[in-house]
Amino acid sequence: MKIAVIGASGHIGSAVVREARERGHEVTAVARDASSLGGGVDADVLDHESIAEVLAGHEAVVLAVKGPETVPAAVRTLIDVLPGVGVRRLLVVGGGGSLEHAPGQRFVDSPNFPKEYLAEARAQGEALELLRAEGGALDWSYASPPPVHLVDGERTGAYRVKAGDTPIGGPDTRITVPDFAAALVDTLEERAFVRERFTAGY
Ligand SMILES: NC(=O)c1ccc[n+]([C@@H]2O[C@H](COP(=O)([O-])OP(=O)(O)OC[C@H]3O[C@@H](n4cnc5c(N)ncnc54)[C@H](OP(=O)(O)O)[C@@H]3O)[C@@H](O)[C@H]2O)c1
Repeated sequence: MKIAVIGASGHIGSAVVREARERGHEVTAVARDASSLGGGVDADVLDHESIAEVLAGHEAVVLAVKGPETVPAAVRTLIDVLPGVGVRRLLVVGGGGSLEHAPGQRFVDSPNFPKEYLAEARAQGEALELLRAEGGALDWSYASPPPVHLVDGERTGAYRVKAGDTPIGGPDTRITVPDFAAALVDTLEERAFVRERFTAGY
């Protein structure tokens, strides 16, 4: 599959690039400063014209950027740009804070949610709402790691995935970055979770 990964120099994006290449996919690594990466292209996801040019001809796009302002704006841009360049499949590396611990009760709104992740988690919640409201022309998927614990560690291959708004396991559930990346590439290969949020964990 020909896959573009936006945020390819980042913590999660680089793991997705590695996993996809190891499985034999053709990967374009995109970031504002990606030319030093193998197969890298410099482009700002918020610049409609240049990102459209870079993404044309891909079968799937993975968005793995960070920043409370950048994340919803990037999703908005891709909703606007992808149909025009013939790309339907979009996989957004999302947040876990908007998962729910009880119906309608998000982790990010609970008093003990870590303050340092609040702004990012709220922005990630906005991005999910945007996809649900306005992503109808795309085959989008939104991947939530556990609410807090996406951790460094080994690729075990022992993760589980499921659709929906609740985490696998309790609030302290965790997954390693390489296992999360593997779950993302599985999702592309299997065309799973189309127009759904899903989560991964042990
Ligand atoms: N438990 C959780 O819920 C959890 C935990 C961790 C991460 N996450 C989510 O996962 C996502 C990725 O996190 P991360 O830790 O991998 O981030 P990161 O290491 O900061 O990487 C972000 C990547 O995005 C690129 N980027 C930033 N702005 C861009 C733009 N305007 N255009 C193109 N590329 C841009 C950066 O490269 P340049 O600066 O060169 O452009 C970099 O490659 C975030 O949205 C975060 O919310 C969730």
